[in-house]
Amino acid sequence: VRGQGNRRQRKSAAAGLYARLNEHVTIEADADGNVVAGLDGQVLERTKLGAGAAKRTLALRTGLPVRSLASPRGAIDNEVALLVRRLARRGLLEYGLSRTNGRGDLVAIEPQIEDYWPQTAKLGANDTVALSRFAYLRRRGTDLVLEAPRAPALFRIDDPKTVAAITGLSRPQRIADLRRRRGFVGLELLGLLLDCNIIFKVAAGSEGLRSSEGDANLVVWDFHDLLFHARSTEGRHANPMGGRYAFVGVIPPPPAVGSRLAGPEIDLQQFTASSVEPISQFANLLRERHSTRDFDSARPITIAELAKFLHHAARVQWKWTTPLDFGDGSFGPEVDYTRRPYPSAGASYELELYLAVANCEGLEKGFYHYDADRHALVSIQVRAQELARLLASAQFAMGAAAPPQILITIAARFNRVSWKYSAIAYSLILKDVGVLLQTLYLTATDLDLGGCAIGTCNIDLLSKMTGQEFHVEGPVGQFALGRAAGVGDAA
Ligand SMILES: Cc1cc2nc3c(=O)[nH]c(=O)nc-3n(C[C@H](O)[C@H](O)[C@H](O)COP(=O)(O)O)c2cc1C
Repeated sequence: VRGQGNRRQRKSAAAGLYARLNEHVTIEADADGNVVAGLDGQVLERTKLGAGAAKRTLALRTGLPVRSLASPRGAIDNEVALLVRRLARRGLLEYGLSRTNGRGDLVAIEPQIEDYWPQTAKLGANDTVALSRFAYLRRRGTDLVLEAPRAPALFRIDDPKTVAAITGLSRPQRIADLRRRRGFVGLELLGLLLDCNIIFKVAAGSEGLRSSEGDANLVVWDFHDLLFHARSTEGRHANPMGGRYAFVGVIPPPPAVGSRLAGPEIDLQQFTASSVEPISQFANLLRERHSTRDFDSARPITIAELAKFLHHAARVQWKWTTPLDFGDGSFGPEVDYTRRPYPSAGASYELELYLAVANCEGLEKGFYHYDADRHALVSIQVRAQELARLLASAQFAMGAAAPPQILITIAARFNRVSWKYSAIAYSLILKDVGVLLQTLYLTATDLDLGGCAIGTCNIDLLSKMTGQEFHVEGPVGQFALGRAAGVGDAA
């Protein structure tokens, strides 16, 4: 009898995957086939389906089997599947993996990127799996969530036994062995976790877990750096973000100036009174610098101005190569360096400039990479829709009436810094971005152009446009550039 019980458990704890609406999303359908999905009384999706299909979409309140949506059979299934995919792309769905015993869900899956669709990756008895070193469990509200910066979805788990089974994967485990264990969570859940990079397959004979997870570009990332990058940008998480003033009413507005200390004070005014010295050109430039968010569409920036701007602000001035000196008399490989107009941590110069050009006299609308070494723009083929989306999000971030004439996206070649620096790599990169942004601001001011730093960028969108995976090279800053419309822009 005991043996039979074990065999049943070995099969799987999970019964099936289904899609359902997020907690706050509503769906209504009438007899004519009109379907309306909404949130907080706002219509998010309105469509007309056949009466049968419309009625079936109501099942999204409790759940529709993913299998029937992935390979629909018949006209009704087809119509429903198309609508469900649209709702999924808009982030209105989540997924549940129900238990065989009918007692609720083993896990709930919340998409974190817009094109997530649950996939159960294949696992064989001889595969060995382990938890990703980027995976973490945390409390969110009253939920326990399992997530990872490379995961396109997170897993909500409320059963301590499932949590225990997953934490057991901190040591590599063979699937055949896991299946024999009491409380095996099932191949379906493991396949979903594998698809989300929360667990990974450990290659036979691999040395060390860190080096066997992902490629050479992943091994250089520290846990906190990749998490910070993925969670403090747009595109790879579903958390609220940006200037939301989330703590109005919780704490009063923090002051504009730090508090005055009680110690003895030396007044510096006497040394800096306007009569002391004439103001230098550079000091004047600093005074003149300001953010420009609205540009003169009738008189766009020209390609000659853009070339000068890039030449002064970002061009490689010279290059050299030197063997890596460990400082203890030993040497490593030859390392290439460049000199550029702005400082960079460890002379890394890991930042690359991508230009989304909307309106520049003499330069075709499109997406370009600035080759700082050869001082040339290299055209990159992207979808018009992606270019428009990138420019529109910059316009939105600036609260501007139109997109900028040129949007410069600053992307980091992460491994150039993390190959050398541990624990501080990502923070150095962000500091480098600040230095470069000020250089771009001052150069724009010097050339009578206008510019504005932008604090958010969609790392998933950029990854699609550059063809680089988000952990290999990704956006860490943006700068809008063009000819200012009028003068005296408000901050
Ligand atoms: C890192 C950084 C991010 C910024 N992000 C935005 C942004 O997303 N949208 C915007 O309109 N301005 C942005 N700004 C511009 C600031 O709002 C501006 O520098 C500030 O209000 C001071 O005004 P000034 O630049 O005209 O002196 C950003 C500036 C910095 C340095």
